Amino acid sequence: MERINASIGFDQRLYRQDIAGSIAHATMLGNQGILSQEDVTAIISGLKAIEQDIAEGNFTFSTALEDIHMNIEASLKERIGDAAGRLHTARSRNDQVATDFRLWVRDATDALGEAIQSLQEALINRADEYAEAYMPGFTHLQTAQPVTLGHHLLAYVEMLGRDRGRLADTRKRLNESPLGAAALAGTSFPIDREQTARALGFDRPMANSIDAVSDRDFALEFLAAGSILAMHLSRLAEELVLWASRQFGFIRLSEAFTTGSSIMPQKRNPDAAELVRARAGRIFGALIALLTVMKGLPLTYSKDMQDDKEPVFESTEALMLCVRAMDGMIRDFSANLPALEDAAASGFATATDLADWLVQTHAIPFREAHHIVGAVVREAETQGCRLDELSLDSLQAIEPRITQAAQEVLTVRASVARRTSQGGTAPIRVREAIQHARKRFL
Ligand code: ARG
Repeated sequence: MERINASIGFDQRLYRQDIAGSIAHATMLGNQGILSQEDVTAIISGLKAIEQDIAEGNFTFSTALEDIHMNIEASLKERIGDAAGRLHTARSRNDQVATDFRLWVRDATDALGEAIQSLQEALINRADEYAEAYMPGFTHLQTAQPVTLGHHLLAYVEMLGRDRGRLADTRKRLNESPLGAAALAGTSFPIDREQTARALGFDRPMANSIDAVSDRDFALEFLAAGSILAMHLSRLAEELVLWASRQFGFIRLSEAFTTGSSIMPQKRNPDAAELVRARAGRIFGALIALLTVMKGLPLTYSKDMQDDKEPVFESTEALMLCVRAMDGMIRDFSANLPALEDAAASGFATATDLADWLVQTHAIPFREAHHIVGAVVREAETQGCRLDELSLDSLQAIEPRITQAAQEVLTVRASVARRTSQGGTAPIRVREAIQHARKRFL
């Protein structure tokens, strides 16, 4: 029973939140005349001493005392005697744990938000450096159209901005105080929930006592936002893995973020990126675990809900680590610019530009232009050359209206420079986007 019942092994991480909640509660009980000021003073100094002992590693947790709440209360009793027993007036572990956990998740959203911001800064700085670094853009992992590496990196800045937005939303919604809901029904003592809510930095007390002790939406929202973040990090990690391969040869990661092989001396394995990609599995798993814990629970508290914490603690640790590892890799990698530009030019990536030119210059319907360029691509394939290497004669043999001006749009640089539409990949747009991103996110 003790082994299955106890949560102290993991919920000791809530000790600061638990003590802050108890101090707010005791202070309010004193202000309301429910406890004497002497008792309140003794309780608060006892709690502060416990907090210091735990922080310094001088506290022995007991599984027989089940959880962090009872461990702290028992220690308080040893230190200050009977007054300790008055702390739990007008409170239950049900509103207590919900309060502690909300405070913990609130801090986690803040810490994760800051770590993401640092990663965005790294991406924006590298985007600035590579605003004119040409590379192939892909669809279906097939060469599609040339873009710049700066533009590609800024795509992740946008994703991460939405991730921060989801965490900020989570924080806003979770920032209501369950304290004072007591076991589930409220209390007969004349408590002031506004007071404790304010003392703990909550915006207001939760409106319904039954909801206050039953709800774990805040943890689920955090895990859902974290799962989407993990998915974004995993996509970026996957790109780094691909790009660092000999076959792509787009980037190089230094020894700081790679490992060698024990038998193949030539290898430089992108382990950090692979592990970021892998860790998404555990984070998605945590979301599904907690959704499953909650889905069949009748109101209000059931002990099942004690299993809400490990998924959140473990995911937070994993997410912080993944964001910071990615931050390091983004600052670390160096791009092989000739290889990138060469890849952008091979694979007929500027075919659309010729089609666009035919439409713009000769008012040829796009579908017909598409057909003509199909023939041009086949000719380049036959000759084994790039589109911008085809002679004017070869081009005009397919379509006489093609001129030398058309040949110019077939280069990667011209193709990219022409994509000046809003949000497009032209270096002038990318430079503007970088300025804008700095203002929006940093
Ligand atoms: N350790 C418990 C948890 O984490 C605290 C709440 C216990 N409440 C109860 N009614 N048994 O959920």
